[in-house]
Amino acid sequence: MTTLHDPAVTASADALSVWPASAAEPRPGELTVGGVPLAEVADRFGTPVYVLDEGEVRERCRTYRHAFPEADVLYAAKAFLCRAMAHWVAEEGLGLDVCSAGELELAVTTGFPPERIVLHGNAKSPRDLETALRLGVGRVVIDSPSEIARLAAAVGPDGHQKVMVRVVPGISAGGHDKIRTGTEDQKFGLSIRDGYAQHAIARILDQPQLRLTGLHCHLGSQITGVKPYIAAVRRMVGLMARLHEQHGLALPELDLGGGHGIAYRPGEPALDVTALARKVRAELAEACTAAGLAVPRLVIEPGRAVVGPAGVALYRALAVKRTGPHTYVAVDGGMGDNPRPALYGVRYAPRLVGRHSTAAPARVTVVGRHCEAGDILADDVELPGDIRPGDLLAVPAAGAYHLSMASGYNLVGRPPVVAVNDGRARLLVRRESLEDIRSRDVGV
Ligand code: LLP
Repeated sequence: MTTLHDPAVTASADALSVWPASAAEPRPGELTVGGVPLAEVADRFGTPVYVLDEGEVRERCRTYRHAFPEADVLYAAKAFLCRAMAHWVAEEGLGLDVCSAGELELAVTTGFPPERIVLHGNAKSPRDLETALRLGVGRVVIDSPSEIARLAAAVGPDGHQKVMVRVVPGISAGGHDKIRTGTEDQKFGLSIRDGYAQHAIARILDQPQLRLTGLHCHLGSQITGVKPYIAAVRRMVGLMARLHEQHGLALPELDLGGGHGIAYRPGEPALDVTALARKVRAELAEACTAAGLAVPRLVIEPGRAVVGPAGVALYRALAVKRTGPHTYVAVDGGMGDNPRPALYGVRYAPRLVGRHSTAAPARVTVVGRHCEAGDILADDVELPGDIRPGDLLAVPAAGAYHLSMASGYNLVGRPPVVAVNDGRARLLVRRESLEDIRSRDVGV
């Protein structure tokens, strides 16, 4: 999510470093992912299309399990969810973080064990809570005072529900203002500083049907350094120590949320998950010993770092226009399937695939097909100077927060998702058709 304009970032680093590990160039211009040529995926499934490398997703789940063997690793479904993804994540031994009845029900109805699911949300609807209780979700993370009585009432006098409390630790971290959630001035969680968190916890303890298992915090997203997490451990253990003194509480869990940053362009930093695990573990042990507390079970919730680098978005160039000093390459997708450049100023590194070009590189702006001047996918990037309509462009690091944030703008229809693995491609989510759109439009 950096907006760095450092020439070293693009020039020196390995061009395929932000691609799935399986990415290969068997012949000049032919790029394969999961053993499947991307041009073949485009021909078979059309464009735009999201390509998801199943092996890369599974490998990233395993990296987390190995780095955090003693912790619960919950995949944050908001990054990307479909039934196959839920299966892969479940098979790899991860749990799930969901933030709506929709994500929850999709996961559980595809066989995801509900007890391994945590429900989030700063404004949980009656349907969210009803679905959580009906399906037997593992934990509900309380995010506002009014939720306590609502949840307790919905559980009923004889039932019980495990809950956590989302705490604002007062730490600023994250790749963009819109995705910083550790500070006071945003909508999530209950503040330690003004006492809301402590107050909510006291009220939860008064509700026998709610069982408080631990504290939660999520600092923000696209965090590339370990330090904010270490600061969070200290703050959270500090609060746990006070709760222990006041209420005799020994909370068995501590959820540090997600936010682990990835590189979108070669040379950008990514969070080192192994270093994170080592340092958080050490800090947690030390802080708990100093406070005379038992070490709680750690929970983490990575989304982007599990699926982001496993995805590639493929587009077909429809028009190339030279206007003054600018060359615009217009493709058949855009802000409808990837609003991230417009929302957060994220920069991507598209690449020509399916054709070998020996033309000198030129600086171009890759724009979308939507009716808005801000529909820019990649501003001022290098592509071969002979780029032309019909060419295929591939955008790496497109697995997280693309389809999950895609919109219906201009009734273009959302792209399909194709899984690639071991030389085979299969459709996971089909393209949204006009018929899909029309079938929801029931008025006259
Ligand atoms: N846990 C909680 C409670 C969260 O709210 C989130 C993300 C995560 C975990 C996972 O964060 P991750 O590891 O994926 O960064 N649309 C934005 C990102 C919004 C993230 C919202 N919450 C983007 O495209 O960058």
